[in-house]
Amino acid sequence: MKIDRVKVNIHLDNLLHNYRLLQRLNSNKEVMAVVKADAYGHGSVKCARFLMENNCKYFAVTELKEAIELRKAGIDTDILIFGKTVKENLNLLFKYNLTQTVDSFKYAKSLDNENYPIKTQIILDTGMSRLGIYLHRLQDVDNVKKEIIKILNLKHLDNQGIYTHFPSADMEDDKFTINQLYLFNKVLGLVENEGFIFKFKHCSNSAGIIKYREDNLSMVRAGIALYGYPPLVSEENFKPVMEVLAKVISIREIKPGDSVSYGRVYQAKKQERIATVAIGYADGYSRHFGKGDYFCYKDYRFPVVGRVCMGATMIKIGDAELKVGDYVEVFGNKKSLDELASRVDTIPYELLTNMAKKRANFQYKK
Ligand SMILES: Cc1ncc(COP(=O)(O)O)c(C=O)c1O
Repeated sequence: MKIDRVKVNIHLDNLLHNYRLLQRLNSNKEVMAVVKADAYGHGSVKCARFLMENNCKYFAVTELKEAIELRKAGIDTDILIFGKTVKENLNLLFKYNLTQTVDSFKYAKSLDNENYPIKTQIILDTGMSRLGIYLHRLQDVDNVKKEIIKILNLKHLDNQGIYTHFPSADMEDDKFTINQLYLFNKVLGLVENEGFIFKFKHCSNSAGIIKYREDNLSMVRAGIALYGYPPLVSEENFKPVMEVLAKVISIREIKPGDSVSYGRVYQAKKQERIATVAIGYADGYSRHFGKGDYFCYKDYRFPVVGRVCMGATMIKIGDAELKVGDYVEVFGNKKSLDELASRVDTIPYELLTNMAKKRANFQYKK
């Protein structure tokens, strides 16, 4: 059945452009593509497959289910699981040759108890307070080193790497991130001095990639920048991968005093042309977005008027030559998502992942 209300164009050419750009910025490191949450709403199988065909060898997801979906779709590269896999499913890590993050000796031991080799990477919590071996201060270093070495000595684990995560690399004050790097490198040095080797050592997310150089490390993990939205100002030309277009399904003239949509919060002062666009909060275009927002068409910017409905939003179109059946841009090429996100006090991550897959027609363009 044809779905034509909302068209989501995924520009794989832009994805590859961003990936190459990230590779260039990290010429001495591997770039891991973070494709969790269905590749930030872009479609993980399609995006990962295209990147793999273009030599991307490393992917990361949040959970086992996402990793298996990629494997079943033929993604045969390294796949790192950021989250934790429950005991009942540990056999699937081995079956699908996946890499599991371990956040403690206790969890690593539970993997080792399975008695078959499981690939792992160790996560250190240097300040995110989310997951990982606790390493917030210099006084933690010795215990962390000991815990890591205990993990590395487990018989069945095939440990591939060690990493941490930055919660504030996009912020101007870099003291916190620099301290994270210091603690990470301190422990790394101590463990390496004992003769242990890590194939992959990594800290940076997109913000870190743009702001920090970590010459001794061997990998970075790129998410949001890959999809075209670097979280801080960058001179690099990242291009948005997702473009959302919605169909004009009705155009009407309203008279002075007429109101538009629920709650009648918008009332026309004069005669106006109003177009109804087939996108609403059930499609990922939240009720909060309407105020101050606009949709684009050619060189026009049509302001949203009245409350956003479940499956429709009204715009004021003046005397523009817009017809029923035309598509207006909600965000993408003409309008950056950054603008919308900051107006409604959120981040592009949330808006991208909220685009409702089932209700839109996703098309992949190379
Ligand atoms: C552990 C980890 N690494 C890397 C990333 C990628 O971050 P970003 O999308 O900011 O590049 C994420 C995403 O939040 C993450 O959880």
